[in-house]
Amino acid sequence: MTAKVYPSLLVLFLTNTVWTRNVRQVYDAMDPEDWSLFTFECPKECFCPPSFPNALYCDNKGLKEIPAIPARIWYLYLQNNLIETISEKPFVNATHLKWINLNKNKITSNGIEKGVLSKLKRLLYLFLEDNELEEVPAPLPTSLEQLRLARNKISRIPDGVFSNLKNLTMLDLQHNKLLDSALQSDTFQGLNNLMQLNIAKNALKKMPLSIPTNTVQLFLDNNSIEVIPENYFSAIPKVTFLRLNYNKLSDDGIPPNVFNVSSILDLQLSHNQLTKIPPFNAHLEHLHLDHNRIKSVNGTLICPTSIAIEDHSSSGNMPRLRYLRLDGNEIQPPIPLDIMICFRLLQAVVI
Ligand SMILES: *[C@@H]1O[C@H](CO)[C@@H](O)[C@H](O)[C@H]1NC(C)=O
Ligand SMILES: *[C@@H]1O[C@H](CO)[C@@H](O)[C@H](O)[C@H]1NC(C)=O
Ligand SMILES: *[C@@H]1O[C@H](CO)[C@@H](O)[C@H](O)[C@H]1NC(C)=O
Ligand SMILES: *[C@@H]1O[C@H](CO)[C@@H](O)[C@H](O)[C@H]1NC(C)=O
Ligand SMILES: *[C@@H]1O[C@H](CO)[C@@H](O)[C@H](O)[C@H]1NC(C)=O
Repeated sequence: MTAKVYPSLLVLFLTNTVWTRNVRQVYDAMDPEDWSLFTFECPKECFCPPSFPNALYCDNKGLKEIPAIPARIWYLYLQNNLIETISEKPFVNATHLKWINLNKNKITSNGIEKGVLSKLKRLLYLFLEDNELEEVPAPLPTSLEQLRLARNKISRIPDGVFSNLKNLTMLDLQHNKLLDSALQSDTFQGLNNLMQLNIAKNALKKMPLSIPTNTVQLFLDNNSIEVIPENYFSAIPKVTFLRLNYNKLSDDGIPPNVFNVSSILDLQLSHNQLTKIPPFNAHLEHLHLDHNRIKSVNGTLICPTSIAIEDHSSSGNMPRLRYLRLDGNEIQPPIPLDIMICFRLLQAVVI
């Protein structure tokens, strides 16, 4: 591919930055609790940093079981071990836990004792990536803010598992085995504060039903989605980052104005089967359409505002597109002049 960068413009480096809640809040000042009330016991397999008494590091130790967690612990690091089960016993005193990292273990759904997680009433972050779960663990603590379940074998979502998770802002289910049938119309009901939903790398053929209303980031890359229902995004009026790369979308599967939504600022449709550029809104800033089957681009046709309006800036609706990827299509350079006339803020076009 060749990046055409206009002389007076800078190349825009697109980072794959994913919005996540600022973790500082969790690391903030200690509770107004008296630490002298706690003994400074430390499981022999783990490391207890004296300057950070509420953290317990038991990662990369070849552990097969979770050691007894002392009552003072807020942050528990158990990633990269050989743990197969989560039972109640080690957690009986650990009522202050806010954060558990159990990524890269061997935990199965059967290995999680019923109710062990929901008893952790202060838990905010639960990381269980790269395990052997076959379903979303249930029940979960209602305090939860982030649930990361990427790279398991999840094909089932128990009824109502999310219904009381009003504080959950991020749910990561990427790289699992979800079929359309796993996602019912009420599956995500109750996730009133969810902002980031990642269901990339599953086996969906349809857009999921009933995405939570406040979703800002919706990632559905690497599924087999063929069709987007009419007005799909009007039910999620805050959707800003939309990724549908590596799906099976063709022109027929896209209703004419489905992406013409003012909230969407970053739209990624790479590696699909589109032959035309779908209409988009003047607010859109990043558009990825590389590796489709687009043959030509008509800047006048795709311009979200009338190209005839001489002075966009005063009308306040100047198209905001800054980055456009069209490589891997059947388009011959040069880039049509009308693209540059319409999209005055364009910083880079990859063709
Ligand atoms: C819980 O705390 C009690 C009292 O300090 C202690 O006797 C017991 O061994 C602890 N249990 C675990 C599993 O840590
Ligand atoms: C949800 O978050 C709010 C604000 O931080 C907090 O007051 C509330 O207790 C939390 N809800 C639960 C169930 O933990
Ligand atoms: C999606 O799948 C393709 C082909 O299977 C693979 O090459 C690509 O790396 C995947 N993309 C992501 C973001 O994982
Ligand atoms: C996109 O939507 C706007 C209203 O938000 C409308 O004025 C415009 O005509 C639509 N674009 C197309 C190509 O239909
Ligand atoms: C682009 O589309 C406009 C409006 O349909 C048309 O008048 C114009 O001739 C087209 N430009 C090219 C280069 O095909």
